[in-house]
Amino acid sequence: MPVLLATQLAIKKAVAILKKGGIVAFPTETVYGLGADAFNPMAVAKIFEVKSRPQFDPLIVHIGDKNDIYKLCRKVNSKARLLIDRFWPGPLTLVLPKEKIIPNIVTAGLPTVAVRMPSHPVALSLINQLKKPIAAASANLFGRLSPTTAEHVKDQLGDKVDLILDGGKTERGIESTVITFIKNDTILLRPGAIPVESLEAIIGKIKLAVKPTRKPLSPGQLAQHYSPHTRLIILNPRTKIKKNKRCGLLAFTRKKNTSNFAMVEVLSEKGDLREAASNLFSCLHRLDKAGLDIIYAEPVPKINLGYAIMDRLKRAAHKNH
Ligand code: TXA
Ligand code: MG
Repeated sequence: MPVLLATQLAIKKAVAILKKGGIVAFPTETVYGLGADAFNPMAVAKIFEVKSRPQFDPLIVHIGDKNDIYKLCRKVNSKARLLIDRFWPGPLTLVLPKEKIIPNIVTAGLPTVAVRMPSHPVALSLINQLKKPIAAASANLFGRLSPTTAEHVKDQLGDKVDLILDGGKTERGIESTVITFIKNDTILLRPGAIPVESLEAIIGKIKLAVKPTRKPLSPGQLAQHYSPHTRLIILNPRTKIKKNKRCGLLAFTRKKNTSNFAMVEVLSEKGDLREAASNLFSCLHRLDKAGLDIIYAEPVPKINLGYAIMDRLKRAAHKNH
């Protein structure tokens, strides 16, 4: 499976692969995606296969023009339109009632579809040259750490994808925020790269999705997700660091005394949540490769992007100890 720098020529190659029903990993502003022609069910099926992803977890349809949402969704309400105007292209995914044109495999049989317009120039060129939307998931194995570099994709998916376009490290480093609308309410399905506070400033109160039930609103929001292979524990004031083990620390800001740790990764020297989000998965990938027994993660403030970071850390830690 070749990794190619995302030049115009490489993008042309990727488009040819997608046209033939292949799958391509590509950079977006959030994380790397693994995509297929959204209108080709056989190609889309390969994404589930390669990720070892259960078929009940629907994909996001990536579009290259804001207006394409009207071809894919039946009811684009006024709140959705306001958010599209303000945040697209960008890391916001809207879940809306789907049009028939979208194959059922993309939405895992749900009557709704998740749509976003990414802002990354490589993702946009790919979609616009294909002249069709691209159905994509994050380019990692099911339940594992999300990829923020081409190298991460290569490590996890090996030779199972037809091409990896290398566009360097992704800017945001954390997935898009996913919301839906039920009756008059706006519901947060996944905290992500656009803080809820920024969305609420435009459309008012957003409700949190209720705790996962047997039939969760967003099938991908499993309690355990984004997991490193190494056990991960979120630090609290009572945590006793295991001295007889090789421990790693995922710190929010630089710490003075870290002698208990074999390895330390700092999310943001100056305590900036945006920088922390952009470094989260790369730091976790490095810690996970270091042969540690335990990774201790320092909590970050639960405001703005901190909310999405803590969501990822909690899922990474779930039942992981
Ligand atoms: O930033 C991102 O969103 C990245 C890049 C590649 O665009 N994509 C991504 O895709 O994170 P994925 O497949 O890892 O996550 C998609 C999320 C899952 O939690 C899934 O359950 C949810 O979106 N989702 C998709 N369609 C849905 C639907 N119809 N109803 C509810 N949730 C849906
Ligand atoms: Mg994912």
